[in-house]
Amino acid sequence: MRKLIQAAPLLLLPLLLLGDQTAETYLAPYKEYLEYGTYAEQDWSSFQVLPKSRYETFKVAFQQITHKNPVIVELGTSRSFTHGGHPGCNLDDPIFWTPNQPENWDWGAGFFTRMASICLSHQKPQIHTVDLQASHIARSKVMTKDYQHLIKYHVSSSEKFLKNCKFPRGIDLLYLDTGDMTPIEPTAKLQLAEAQIIVERNLIAPNGIILIDDVRNQTPKKFGEKSDLGKSKYALPYLLENGFELLMDEYQVILRKQ
Ligand SMILES: C[S@@+](CC[C@H](N)C(=O)[O-])C[C@H]1O[C@@H](n2cnc3c(N)ncnc32)[C@H](O)[C@@H]1O
Repeated sequence: MRKLIQAAPLLLLPLLLLGDQTAETYLAPYKEYLEYGTYAEQDWSSFQVLPKSRYETFKVAFQQITHKNPVIVELGTSRSFTHGGHPGCNLDDPIFWTPNQPENWDWGAGFFTRMASICLSHQKPQIHTVDLQASHIARSKVMTKDYQHLIKYHVSSSEKFLKNCKFPRGIDLLYLDTGDMTPIEPTAKLQLAEAQIIVERNLIAPNGIILIDDVRNQTPKKFGEKSDLGKSKYALPYLLENGFELLMDEYQVILRKQ
């Protein structure tokens, strides 16, 4: 028994390290899909080095969540059973949902709702996913059925949700992913409005993070957009001036509350 007690710190060490690596272990099987979903069907010719994919930013974001019962909020839910161009894309019939065939899933959108559920479930998170469209929330419920005990689904505008939500300890991970890539102007203005509420209501927990999707998506450029920051061209400078610092600046951006 004494020997066991003496060995305890050594036994605990790998467990402590595992805490950081668990999210990566759960995410690893989806690496190829997340990379494909980040880069496919976009013109990257102006980049000498590609920005890192969603796999890398999801990994780092999930690794920041080290405590039990974290609060995760996603603005803009996973809405499609399959990815663009495939039968079932953006349709309501759950027949198109193939839970055992991840190659069919909507990787072009990132699939955060399910990835966060898979990677953080061991920490018993409280996940809130928010969407304006009831039909999108209905599809999201089908795709995350096996994680429904962790998720609250909200049919609401992102602004209304942010104005009314109550999280006494703050939000540990906020995922900004509302709107479309074309036209970009309304999406960029919506993201600024979201950012303003986040700052004014001090919604992020101490050391909490904001993960923003599609900052370096090249689609707006194809349609004449001049900014390199696409839908974050207003929100990102605003957040950097209002208490957030850059943790990762890639296809997605991760901000940490200072
Ligand atoms: C790109 S999809 C989200 C993808 C999802 N986060 C994922 O990882 O798969 C964008 C979603 O934002 C929703 N949306 C657009 N404007 C919104 C708003 N003002 N408030 C809430 N959701 C909105 C759309 O209905 C759509 O389902």
